[in-house]
Amino acid sequence: MRKIKLSFTLNGKAYEIEADPGARMLDVIRNDLELTGTKEGCSVGECGACTVVLNGEPVASCLVLAGRMDGADIVTIEGVNELELGKKLQASFIEEDAVQCGFCTPGFVVSAYALLKKNPEATREEIRHAIAGNICRCTGYIPIVNAIEKAVAKTKEE
Ligand code: FES
Ligand code: FES
Repeated sequence: MRKIKLSFTLNGKAYEIEADPGARMLDVIRNDLELTGTKEGCSVGECGACTVVLNGEPVASCLVLAGRMDGADIVTIEGVNELELGKKLQASFIEEDAVQCGFCTPGFVVSAYALLKKNPEATREEIRHAIAGNICRCTGYIPIVNAIEKAVAKTKEE
């Protein structure tokens, strides 16, 4: 298997690794970098469990080739968890009972983080739109939207 050097920033840290440029970004993150917070659900871009932030935009990492990581700025759930906004989202998810089995949660939190980073005062409608690519089989979505809205309210209070 041909490997190339990939240089990128991930969760604020510079990386230089060798990887197959045709591999999926999801596999590089989970297997090569051992960051398993990013989940694999459907493998075909439908469920959002594998969402990461790539150059400021949320993407389904199961659909992105590793070659696109070169020169990129990437944030995974592990990085989001370390940030103030991520902590606020986590707390709001717990307070609003927006987590049941939890498999979808990293993807939702990353999508919400990408939205609120750009638009800290996002409306309920904008929140719904931002998580349209994330599927949850447990919660019925309302608590998730409530949790993200609560994180917005906390930001406004500051
Ligand atoms: S695993 Fe990537 S969208 Fe479902
Ligand atoms: S909490 Fe179970 S899939 Fe969302």
